[in-house]
Amino acid sequence: MGAKVIDGKQIAAEIREELKVEVTGLRERGIVPGLGVILVGADPASESYVKAKKRACGNMGLFSDDHQLSAEATQEDILALVDQMNHDPKINGIWVQLPLPKHIDEAVVLLAIDPDKDVDGFHPINLGKMIVGEEAFLPCTPNGILQLLFRSGVKTSGAHVVVVGRSNIVGKPVANMLLQKKEHANATVTLCHTGTKDLAHFTRQADIIIVAAGRPNTVTADMVKKGVVVIDVGVNRVEDARHERGYRLVGDVDFEAVKEKAAQITPVPGGVGPMTITMLLFNMVESAKRANQV
Ligand code: GUN
Repeated sequence: MGAKVIDGKQIAAEIREELKVEVTGLRERGIVPGLGVILVGADPASESYVKAKKRACGNMGLFSDDHQLSAEATQEDILALVDQMNHDPKINGIWVQLPLPKHIDEAVVLLAIDPDKDVDGFHPINLGKMIVGEEAFLPCTPNGILQLLFRSGVKTSGAHVVVVGRSNIVGKPVANMLLQKKEHANATVTLCHTGTKDLAHFTRQADIIIVAAGRPNTVTADMVKKGVVVIDVGVNRVEDARHERGYRLVGDVDFEAVKEKAAQITPVPGGVGPMTITMLLFNMVESAKRANQV
């Protein structure tokens, strides 16, 4: 039989339809939400994410202003562009595509973004507000995961969620969001990482597993209990001569085997991926509403 496969594309499309209504309402008042995007270098994965963001903004009727800087751009170049966007009234959201080249201090760049335009939710002010339970822009991939769970009928309240991976982009924020005493959260959370001894000991106790480790087969069938819900955030390229690109995308979970034990599972691609940009669009609408006191 196997698990129900959670259709991220379908859920993302549902949310985008809801947002379209809001964007139409804003446009009727003369408000066009505008996103400023900064990409440094020419990493193919980052380039394709940025292209997808531009397309999504266009389809939604948002304005987007994309800047691609060379991989040799200095921190000052990036900070100058951020400053320009902070002061540009047409821009109400700023997205600096991560990771940045090694010679750039990511924390300094994220700190320079006006917290009121931080639609990525990575500014320490927004992360701090989220942790203490105040209203804030929420990081897009973690917020997308909460939406996937909620819209798939998965109850998080009282559930034991095991998060694998402690990145600032996914693991740390999603763990903190899920432990909030709030709707779509209120879980008991265990955060595992590369320092965890005996990962399987923890994953076997999980009602819900969220894997954002960046390594294929981090979670295999022997590591999960029957009926678990699995959210796979991994996007890994593995060589495959049968594909014309020479590679295929796999997640961090052994999908085919884990699917046989799980109640629900996200595929890669088509699971978490489509949710990140969707939740960015959600934050863009929120930001435009706040800026215009709608
Ligand atoms: N790179 C991968 N995920 C993200 C994200 O959520 N935000 C930004 N800015 N860069 C990313």
